[in-house]
Amino acid sequence: MQGKRILLGISGGIAAYKIVTLIRLLIKSGAEVKCILTPASCDFISPLTVATLSKNPVGIEFWDKSDGTWSNHVEYGLWADVFLIAPLTANTLHKLAHGGCNNLLLATYLSMKCPVIVAPAMDLDMYIHPTTKRNLEIIAGDGVLVIPAESGELASGLIGQGRMAEPETLFESLEAFFENSSELVGKRILITAGPTYEALDPVRFIGNHSSGKMGFALAENILRKGAEVVLISGPTKLDLKHNNLTLVKVQSAENMLHAVQEHWSNSDAGIFSAAVADYRPLNVAEQKIKKSEENLTIELIKNPDILGWAGSMKSEKQILVGFALETTNGKAYAEDKLTRKNLDFIVLNSLEDHGAGFGFDTNKISILDNHNNFTSFELMSKANVAKDIVNYLKKYLK
Ligand code: CTP
Repeated sequence: MQGKRILLGISGGIAAYKIVTLIRLLIKSGAEVKCILTPASCDFISPLTVATLSKNPVGIEFWDKSDGTWSNHVEYGLWADVFLIAPLTANTLHKLAHGGCNNLLLATYLSMKCPVIVAPAMDLDMYIHPTTKRNLEIIAGDGVLVIPAESGELASGLIGQGRMAEPETLFESLEAFFENSSELVGKRILITAGPTYEALDPVRFIGNHSSGKMGFALAENILRKGAEVVLISGPTKLDLKHNNLTLVKVQSAENMLHAVQEHWSNSDAGIFSAAVADYRPLNVAEQKIKKSEENLTIELIKNPDILGWAGSMKSEKQILVGFALETTNGKAYAEDKLTRKNLDFIVLNSLEDHGAGFGFDTNKISILDNHNNFTSFELMSKANVAKDIVNYLKKYLK
């Protein structure tokens, strides 16, 4: 972090007191720190503390009433390498999302030239309120990187998500930001994610429990490294917005195949994490199937192998990554898929490992590559698994 210029924006929430620790970590690591406080945050943290620790005067008002000096928000924007707003309260979030400009922090945000990162902090109900979600989506869509709030005990006594990420996490996020922000600029990566739903009739389908979390975590990680991402996702509750992202939402394996066919030839690499249904009903009833007989037999036919198709069309320069979810003989099956589908490497997750696979926030993977290297990783969050997979991919994407 030596010499990096960090502008910290502090808005008025109880988590403001934790920023003291972040400032100390940043200064210790050699970064330069300037801080802007909203007037409301001064009730939670003293400007003198912030100024002393950051070794710089703090900005609060547009102008200093004691001597009439003007605080130039444009200069802050030009000075900073990154602008981190932490804690980000619901009120400041609302104003960021809608162009509010009634304090120095907001004016600086509007004239910012460098990337902006935010760390929301609010009470459980406020954090999950649809308005908050909408506002977070709006700013994410404007290119702001959101460090999600953590779960735990909140100042109100409630327990749940809403707590600002710890200062150490914020510090690591800043470090990662500087390490990563340009590594994959100019690359275009295609990702498949989530389940597919295969219709039986207008109201029913055959599907699976895939949440799409792995594919979305991969997309987030890759976007952070500056690449363009085409994310083709089956039905999930997840959403992601970013200027470099094309999100294509599909239902069935056939829809997913068509979307992949449209984008694969323009991609430098593909990561196929979708849990595609292997079979679909041969006939889709036009009207809702009514119950009549005791037994109902549904004839299924095989779905197209989307990854197999991409492997068969792969050029020498393209890198292709598949996933394998196995219950037994993981490595042998993975080896077979690696060659059969013409992959560069395959990510194996075994349902024998507790905490891995569908629905969990964690995953435990091994990677088998086309040079016969087999690497096993620890159980960790899907965000960290994504990091390992993308690091592996980087070696191929020179
Ligand atoms: N895949 C795909 N299209 C399919 C099926 C799978 O793109 N119709 C991709 C998945 O996204 C994953 C990999 O292929 O990357 C999984 O390979 P697959 O052979 O389908 O494994 P399983 O679904 O586990 O099937 P099985 O073990 O029954 O062969």
